[in-house]
Amino acid sequence: MLRQRLTRITIGPSLALLSVLVAGCTQSMGPMDWIGSVAGEQAEAQRWITWYLIYLGAAVFVVVEGLLLYAILKFRRPVEGLPPQVHGHRALEIFWTTVPALIVLAIVVPMVPLTFSFAQPPDEAGALRVEVVAYQWWWEFRYPDIVPGRTITVANELRIPVGRTVIATLSSADVIHSFWVPKLGGKVDVLPGRQKNQLWLNAREPGEYYGWCAEFCGTQHAQMRFRVKAMSAAEFEAWVRARLSPPPEPKEGLARRGFELFGARGCGACHTIEGTPYQGKIGPNLTNMGERSTVGAGVLENDPEGEGLFRWLKNPQAVKPGNKMPNLGLSDDDVRALVAYLRTLK
Ligand code: CUA
Repeated sequence: MLRQRLTRITIGPSLALLSVLVAGCTQSMGPMDWIGSVAGEQAEAQRWITWYLIYLGAAVFVVVEGLLLYAILKFRRPVEGLPPQVHGHRALEIFWTTVPALIVLAIVVPMVPLTFSFAQPPDEAGALRVEVVAYQWWWEFRYPDIVPGRTITVANELRIPVGRTVIATLSSADVIHSFWVPKLGGKVDVLPGRQKNQLWLNAREPGEYYGWCAEFCGTQHAQMRFRVKAMSAAEFEAWVRARLSPPPEPKEGLARRGFELFGARGCGACHTIEGTPYQGKIGPNLTNMGERSTVGAGVLENDPEGEGLFRWLKNPQAVKPGNKMPNLGLSDDDVRALVAYLRTLK
């Protein structure tokens, strides 16, 4: 009877614990994992300190619980009167004051220099500077003076060269957000107003790293995603050169009709497409929309067939309710023309 009840009580938690432990066996736990495999110097340090604290905590747990079990088992029989009193036992007092102090010291000693290292970018002089502006619910990335006098502005996808330090200045256009790329580093609050936080990152190897907003900022907080694409220095240079000359205006066909609709339906009042009369500043800059991997800050894939863009333009409120882009009530034909135009922007 008792045994049956015990089995019933323990089986659920045991299975849950087992599944957590088994999940820990995989090398990588997905694109947001930062304690399995990471790709940046700062993330590496964060991973190290996390495991250090987990092991230290586990050691304390084993010792404390071991002593507890020992005491329970050894002194399980009732005694007559009071057990031996230890009040004022000098050796014991010194022991249980010193040991916790040493444990705290073991945490503080590696933690303090590590924390300061997060504030001090390596190779500050050679760093690539970017400005990150958070909006409900998407991200703008600017490369000010990437060549003298020219700034590149993109949305939801930050490209960086491998091995080079990137110093990001963070600001928000509305509420508090938080910038976090688990595999590279972070997370740092993005504040509205005058205070601009800074953060540095670097990527050891080329790849696509996922970033999320890590501070609740409204209904679509969970859909405020971005990607960091780390590429070789040469590829990055080529990308910068391509971005400095805006894509040509389409001259004919469906894309041309899309280009005209972009103005006629008012899209250009909110979005900028460089090299065109469309210079709106409310929504994301769409100059390189055709090369972006996602639509709506990570909500839909920006597939070559334009399915994702189609769904978004047809009714952005159905895809990401509450975002600032209204449902324009466009016909399927108009949406197809706009998709054809936006896909040319690369
Ligand atoms: Cu922005 Cu959460």
